Amino acid sequence: MKFLTVNDIRFATIDEGSGPVVVLVHGFPLDHTIWDGQIGPLSQRCRVIAPDLRGFGDTEATPGKVSIEQHADDLAAMLDALGVVEPVVLAGLSMGGYIAFRFYQKYRRRLRGMILCDTRAGADTPQAATGRLESARRVEQEGPRVLADMMLPRMLAPATYNSQPEVVERIQQIILAGNAVGLAAAARGLAERPDFSAMLPEIDCPTLLVVGKHDAISTAAEMGVMARSIRGAKLVAIDGAGHMSPLEQPAEVAAAMEAFILGSAEE
Ligand code: MLT
Repeated sequence: MKFLTVNDIRFATIDEGSGPVVVLVHGFPLDHTIWDGQIGPLSQRCRVIAPDLRGFGDTEATPGKVSIEQHADDLAAMLDALGVVEPVVLAGLSMGGYIAFRFYQKYRRRLRGMILCDTRAGADTPQAATGRLESARRVEQEGPRVLADMMLPRMLAPATYNSQPEVVERIQQIILAGNAVGLAAAARGLAERPDFSAMLPEIDCPTLLVVGKHDAISTAAEMGVMARSIRGAKLVAIDGAGHMSPLEQPAEVAAAMEAFILGSAEE
């Protein structure tokens, strides 16, 4: 793990391997370890940067509200701090995908491609946003277990609950180890994120979409619509996976990512 100063906070990131740069951005309420099954294989031929976002994992939290834009700005400042000047492939899972959309809007020249994993372009409905604000309040009062109880039942494919209890346990551990102040601040930012749907037809960098066939949060049907809206995008649907496809089927997800990263590096 490397520790950097990024936009005045202590920022933690994995930085391994050499070759084309890929940045792996985790979802909510998680940390960079959701990519453990991809970091090893990808770092054989790529430089893999996998940060803990502001308020998650080992990165410092800032209280109140942390917007999706702030996370995108942190990623750009992290690349500066690491001396990365070449365009990168940015991979984001769920919230990481929302951040990738914002990064695209602000820092297009820094991108060579995007991998959108188990994510969606739409904003929260007013009802969902209200629920998030309530969950932020409860996390601050009761701790991260609130999020584990609310979210875990929908995060994984049914087969994962039955045959991979260690994956269920791992996700629970990540959530329970979270920083309540950071999680609440990120939840408030998620509630206010913009709708990115209108930008999809304008995306002009190579884009791969990856979805667990049993994703109950960003469904395969919804990601199919997204794939058809982005020119030239490719969609890979992963058997036996839900919303946490990199943890549920690590080898398949790593293989799809590697083929895309190395293929788009040659363009
Ligand atoms: C995630 O995995 O990042 C979350 O499901 C995102 C969300 O709650 O919208």
